[in-house]
Amino acid sequence: MLTRRRLLVLGGLAGGAALTPMTRGLFTEPEQQARPMHVHDHGGRVPAVRTGATAAPFSVAMPLPPVLAPAISMPGFDLYRLAVQPATTEILPGVTTPVLTYGGQFTAPTIRARQGRRTLVTVDNKLGHEANVHLHGGRVPAASDGYPMDLIADGKSRTYDYPNAQPGATLWYHDHTHHMEAEHVYRGMHGFYLVEGADEQQLGLPAGAYDVPILLRDALLDDKGGLVFDPADPYNRPTLLANGKAQPYFGVAARKYRLRLLNGSTHRIFELTLGEGVEMTQIATDCGLLPAPVQVTKLVLSSGERAEVVVDFSRVPLGGRLILNDVSGPVMRFDVVRRAFDRSRVPDTLRAMPALAAATQTRQLTLSLDPVNIRALINDQVFDPNRVDMQVKRGSSEIWQVTNSDTNVGGSGFGVPHNFHTHLAQFRLLDRDGKPPLPGEAGWKDTVLIQPGETVRFQASFGDYLGRYVYHCHMLEHSALGMMGQMEIVS
Ligand code: C2O
Ligand code: CU
Ligand code: CU
Repeated sequence: MLTRRRLLVLGGLAGGAALTPMTRGLFTEPEQQARPMHVHDHGGRVPAVRTGATAAPFSVAMPLPPVLAPAISMPGFDLYRLAVQPATTEILPGVTTPVLTYGGQFTAPTIRARQGRRTLVTVDNKLGHEANVHLHGGRVPAASDGYPMDLIADGKSRTYDYPNAQPGATLWYHDHTHHMEAEHVYRGMHGFYLVEGADEQQLGLPAGAYDVPILLRDALLDDKGGLVFDPADPYNRPTLLANGKAQPYFGVAARKYRLRLLNGSTHRIFELTLGEGVEMTQIATDCGLLPAPVQVTKLVLSSGERAEVVVDFSRVPLGGRLILNDVSGPVMRFDVVRRAFDRSRVPDTLRAMPALAAATQTRQLTLSLDPVNIRALINDQVFDPNRVDMQVKRGSSEIWQVTNSDTNVGGSGFGVPHNFHTHLAQFRLLDRDGKPPLPGEAGWKDTVLIQPGETVRFQASFGDYLGRYVYHCHMLEHSALGMMGQMEIVS
């Protein structure tokens, strides 16, 4: 019989039932037992509190993640160095929170790359156990993709090679260690990787200090400020963070800003609004600029998705404030504190979106949870690194139809949302349940939300690299349970 507890384990359905050793069943595969116990995870025991330390909203300034400087710049590439290491941060003012980081920073340092110029990143693993780096949205050779079994042993280093042969986009990097991706990302292994497109500079969009990356996520903090990672109850993470701080404020000038919003949560779906329905001009989605700007009053971002908006704060009186709200409550506040010149603009057309080449293949994938066996499936199978689920021809274009069949998980009457992310491939949405996608989804994407019962069709382009790449639900508690497959790109 399906118990309520098992549903919680799988879907994170509403409710606050305490967990039992059942939760530990999430990670009992033999390969997992050999892994070291995690730091700060309360030994896998039930967290003592459901909500812990808190602070008054808007009591701390939102920082910008530091921009990483290259260790070496050569004519053909920039080489960066980044350590994976435990560190501490202050999510709440005056409260110390242990975290896992890239570069010692809870929102990892931002890497700024230029289209067409190669980036090398040497990662030194000082975590105490294995980890890796995946460049989400990057078109990179398989050996640099951060395949879930392709890990950096503790004490070892590894250099990732990113060609940046793709248009400008807000990418991000995060851990992808099989079965540990959710916990590692939750504990802080996430940061921005911005590709600056050659075509973007001419457009006159807000730039420099007016181009602001914001990593949004959630957390459950215990009464000492520790991050509670409870994969069985991912919806109980009530503290909302922007660039690593709980409900911060951010001082802005009365002018236009480009805001790069990333949902870096492992599970939450953000439904964002600004003030009392203030219009935002959406200019980009996951893989870069939209064909044309779109006026929106609400942005829905599932785990891993990005949206870029231009917000004109000159419409707010000096001294005024605008709150960015999630459907669950305030995320952060923009305080208009000074005047500034503004020669930036948002042109009527942003990026050409040529017609897609004819698709050579159509595939169907179905996402579902298996609450009885505590597994998460694609086409009724859990991820198996030794099984290739499909072969894709290099340079081809395919239509994938992905269905979320979880309308009634285990007979509970509850549906569970999923999303879907492809490595290597970028795609354009064709339809949702036969209806046209939203205008804000009109560009190239790599992650798409799929509501219970919904079927999404997209056409993907696979580029030139060969080898094995994964695709998965980006609600990382689900990919950790097996909702992931792999394709082999062949010549
Ligand atoms: Cu953002 Cu396979 O991940
Ligand atoms: Cu990815
Ligand atoms: Cu899922």
